[in-house]
Amino acid sequence: MANVTFSGPTLPKNVTVYAVADNKTLLSLAKKHEIAIPFQCQDGECGSCLIKVTYLGANKPKAIHLTDKEKLTLSVNGKLSKAVLEQAEVNDVPPTYRLACQYLVQDEDILVEFTGEPGVE
Ligand code: FES
Repeated sequence: MANVTFSGPTLPKNVTVYAVADNKTLLSLAKKHEIAIPFQCQDGECGSCLIKVTYLGANKPKAIHLTDKEKLTLSVNGKLSKAVLEQAEVNDVPPTYRLACQYLVQDEDILVEFTGEPGVE
């Protein structure tokens, strides 16, 4: 069980929902709770679901696997440098910026920030 807090201009205030690590995406969690994160392709290609993720728990964030599509889309949008990618792949340090349609919900508390503008964090 995890607390996922959404923060963005389309919300009157931050919204925290309980989530389970069930191999579903953060975008699907947001849609389920009617949180309007922008999206288009839902396949990691357009970048419109760009989010900023902050880990809130006391434990070290869990290692993540970035899909090739997410790596490419984040890189093209200037949100994934080679240094940050290396930190993710070598030292298991998750990048700050992610795509909500590619982020699989894990059992850890996070803050998800979005601007409401497609592809803008
Ligand atoms: Fe297109 Fe997520 S909706 S990359």
